Amino acid sequence: MATVQMSVRPEDLSQVPHGGERIPEAGIMVIFGASGDLTKRKLLPALFHLEQNGLLPANFAIVGVARRPLGDEFAADMRAGIIEFGDVDAGETKLDDFVKRISYFPLRFDDPTDYAGLKVELERIAKERGIGGKRLFYLATAPEFFAGIIENLGAQGLAQAEGGKTSVVIEKPFGHDLESARELNRQVNAVFHESQVFRIDHYLGKETVQNILVFRFANGIFEPIWNRNYIDHVQITAAETLGVEGRGPFYEKAGALRDVVQNHMMELLSLVALEPPSSFEAESVRREKLKVWQAIPSVPILDAVRGQYGPGTVDGQTVVGYREEERVSHESGTETYAAVRLEIENWRWAGVPFYLRAGKRLKKRATEISIQFKQPPLLIFDRLASSSACQVIQPNLLTIRIQPDEGIALRFGAKVPTTPDMNVCPVNMDFDYAAAFGKSTANGYERLLMDAMLGEQTLFSHRDGVETNWALYTPILEAWAAKKPETFPNYEAGSWGPECSDELLRRGGHWWRNDLGRKG
Ligand code: BG6
Repeated sequence: MATVQMSVRPEDLSQVPHGGERIPEAGIMVIFGASGDLTKRKLLPALFHLEQNGLLPANFAIVGVARRPLGDEFAADMRAGIIEFGDVDAGETKLDDFVKRISYFPLRFDDPTDYAGLKVELERIAKERGIGGKRLFYLATAPEFFAGIIENLGAQGLAQAEGGKTSVVIEKPFGHDLESARELNRQVNAVFHESQVFRIDHYLGKETVQNILVFRFANGIFEPIWNRNYIDHVQITAAETLGVEGRGPFYEKAGALRDVVQNHMMELLSLVALEPPSSFEAESVRREKLKVWQAIPSVPILDAVRGQYGPGTVDGQTVVGYREEERVSHESGTETYAAVRLEIENWRWAGVPFYLRAGKRLKKRATEISIQFKQPPLLIFDRLASSSACQVIQPNLLTIRIQPDEGIALRFGAKVPTTPDMNVCPVNMDFDYAAAFGKSTANGYERLLMDAMLGEQTLFSHRDGVETNWALYTPILEAWAAKKPETFPNYEAGSWGPECSDELLRRGGHWWRNDLGRKG
């Protein structure tokens, strides 16, 4: 398929401000579960990227908290993580000063006396560095510790520091089902006011995800056709080539629907489907997202399919099946692939199916949204086409590539030149982020950490949104738990998932496989 590249004019780019005016006030960020992978791979590299861009306040400290008795080696380990995962040169001038901001405090998550010790330690650091009362607690532990940590922070008076606002960032998974999410919300809001709570979904930190709203609402030409009159259906794919990467025990309890569909993919869906918010303020955006989720009727069980990978070949490497992964049951019924068909019952979307699918060990890594438009009412060229591969007129397809190869492609039909016949061939207008703006080393946490420090909640989930999504998916999870799948494993690693997933697109459609609107 022919592709036309689109680019940015340097003179336009040079006029764009780079956000340097948004520097948070001095404070201390306390990361619980700091010895885990997330801190080293994502959080510290993201904080250092902020430092490199001059976006951290001068008086800012990072305290890692975990159960292990670590000392100075923690800061050294974080330094290594920043270099390895943050794409940072070991000789980077700002690195040594940044590492001086980092310290470690060992703490048992369930021991109140350790929290009293943490309070003293934070006061000491604040005094030493001239930091006021601003605190940000980041919960990156296993979810079973969230409630206990929050209760202990409350009991020590750490949730309401004097002379500064305190915030709490809570990692996913937020609950395991509707009931547990409600209970966790109750525990969180018993200590923190909702305005202090930042439930994180790292997808919302991705530039391409934020760009969905810009694409829709900073351009006049798409919104008039962004509805049931012009759109046939929407597909959202989160395909990974990775397996469970040593996270067997976590994944056994989670599965694809909980891990990716009910949170990340529902966020993507809401951004595609929401009504224009009155502003880009947290309240307006989150209200519109909630309205979308609330308009989704319960999903018939036949409209949800699941799969589990068996052995196969991914990127040329032979890989084991899910049941042979480390610390996974040989008879596991956990799904590594899930797909659902949803409807949104409102005036804009009635009758337009939204198909969501997510899976591990698939053929290609691709997170993308494909919006398939309706065919023109009358095809006047089909009888005038000669017999050629190009003569079948394909629907217009807008593909938003979230990752990798971030960009947006619009497929349309063009006349094949130099033939007297009216042969129509699909071509793509393709906007490529990296080609237009340069490759970024950001991992998405930069924006979210910055917003949490600034108290800006637009890109974080509200309690109502979390509960609405759990309410939608809990019946499916319960039905699946009650009936162990007999056909697992039902797809080969390195394939595009189980056959039953194709049957979801009943009206003669098919999943768009990989980018640029090509079938796999
Ligand atoms: C996480 C899931 O939330 O998202 C992982 O727990 C998944 O299982 C990951 O691999 C995908 O994120 P990304 O940013 O790599 O698409």
